[in-house]
Amino acid sequence: MQDIIFTRVSIRKYKDRPVEEEKLDRLLRAAMQAPSAGNQQPWEFYVVTNKEKLAALAQASPFAGCTKDAPAAIVICSRTKQIRWLDYAEIDCSIACENIWLEAEQLGLGTVWLGIAPLKGRMDTVRKILAIPEDLNAFAIMPVGYPDETRPQQDRYDASRIHRAD
Ligand SMILES: Cc1cc2nc3c(=O)[nH]c(=O)nc-3n(C[C@H](O)[C@H](O)[C@H](O)COP(=O)(O)O)c2cc1C
Repeated sequence: MQDIIFTRVSIRKYKDRPVEEEKLDRLLRAAMQAPSAGNQQPWEFYVVTNKEKLAALAQASPFAGCTKDAPAAIVICSRTKQIRWLDYAEIDCSIACENIWLEAEQLGLGTVWLGIAPLKGRMDTVRKILAIPEDLNAFAIMPVGYPDETRPQQDRYDASRIHRAD
C-alpha cells in the first residue's frame, strides 16, 4: 500500500475496455471501508456505465471532460439527513474518494477525482442527470477505466512545510 501512495497519479485517458463488475465492487468496498466522523458513513454511490449518462456527466464541470470516454464512473454522494456530524460529511466522503483512488491503482485501474461539491451549479447538474434525491448531494465524480496514459508521480516532499514545536 505504501508504494501506491507514492506512485498513484490522476488518470484521465482510458482504454476502450469495460471494467469488470468484481473490480467495481472492490472499489465500492474500499470506499465504504473509509473512516468517518463518529463512524457515520454518510456516503451513497451511483455507478454509471450508460454511455449517454457518462457523456452528460462530462459536462457537469469544465474539468470533467474525461468522463465521456470512461467505461464507468462512480459518483460519490453525501447524505444530508439523519447525519449526526453533518459538518464532517463531505470530509468523510473525501476519504472514501481517496480509498477508491488507491484501490483503483492497486487493481491496475485508473481514476481521477472530479470536483463537484461544494459548487452548487455542478451539484445541481449531476443531480438532474442521475435523478439524485433531495436528501443527497453529489460530491465528486470518479471516472474509472484501464489507464491509457502513464506518468511518473512527482516527489512532493517539502521539508520547509514541517514545523517543529519541540
Ligand atoms: C478535491 C479535488 C478536486 C479535483 N478536481 C478535478 C477536476 O475537476 N478535474 C480534473 O481533471 N482533476 C481534478 N482533480 C485532480 C487534481 O488535478 C490532481 O489530483 C492534481 O493535479 C495532482 O495530480 P495527481 O493526482 O496525478 O497526483 C481534483 C483533485 C482533488 C483532490
